[in-house]
Amino acid sequence: MMRPQITLRRLAEMKEAGEPIVMVTAYDYPTARAAEQAEVDMVLVGDSGAQVVLGHDSTVRVTVDEMLVLAAAVRRGIRSAFVVCDVPFGSTEVSDEQAVATAMRFVKEAGADAVKLEGGGAMRLSRIRAIVAAGIPVVGHVGLTPQTATALGGLRAQGRTADSAARFAREALAVQEAGASLLVIEAVPSDVVEVVLPSVSIPVIGIGAGPADGQVLVMHDLLGITEGRTASFVKHYAAIGPDMVAGVAAYAQDVRARAFPAAEHAYSATDEAVAAARAALEDA
Ligand code: KIV
Repeated sequence: MMRPQITLRRLAEMKEAGEPIVMVTAYDYPTARAAEQAEVDMVLVGDSGAQVVLGHDSTVRVTVDEMLVLAAAVRRGIRSAFVVCDVPFGSTEVSDEQAVATAMRFVKEAGADAVKLEGGGAMRLSRIRAIVAAGIPVVGHVGLTPQTATALGGLRAQGRTADSAARFAREALAVQEAGASLLVIEAVPSDVVEVVLPSVSIPVIGIGAGPADGQVLVMHDLLGITEGRTASFVKHYAAIGPDMVAGVAAYAQDVRARAFPAAEHAYSATDEAVAAARAALEDA
């Protein structure tokens, strides 16, 4: 049976019913297909793609045009999951008009179901209100917001001090009040998140934030493709990175040993075709 389309209404029903919501990032057609075939509920075209697929050292480096290419490829691979696209750093900060124009591009050019905006300060709230007023669903993102990590003192957990926990709580509620349809909470102690959750009526997706209505992980982290250390909240479900290296190394070894290609990897031709090629060379 075909899986029904995941909509905002369905996600709200899942929260209501206490059914966990599964979200994962994807950045291209194959990762989108993997997410769709695994029947996840939501796919996030995260600006983490700046790091895990484009090789930058920070999410702030990715441009709108680059994100649109990734997002359109993901859209082509998804049939029923709800597709959320991150709007990158620098594409909403100037004005509400700039934010709406950027969000529109993700909907019109990439087929996004919603856009995700990081932060819960006054400027971000204004952007969320403007995008929602334009008819585009917004997913908020509070706690650790990597786009502004420098201002937060680095890529570190938030809500661990009294000031930071109070700020997190205020921002979570403010993002909801500004009209966000869902909220991502990243890297906040679960005790602090637990205090805030009863006041949030929209579905909450956690990453390094303890139990919530759902969870999100970066595809390349959970599949073990990311090189080097990953955040302590990541769980590895596969070791695809080492498998990729092993596969390419085995191919290289075969080519060097002239073990590849074998007869079964070559095309065959008629005797006539071979003779014609030989004759053409003799005539040349
Ligand atoms: O860009 C991303 O992958 C994200 C998730 C970590 C939530 O924002």
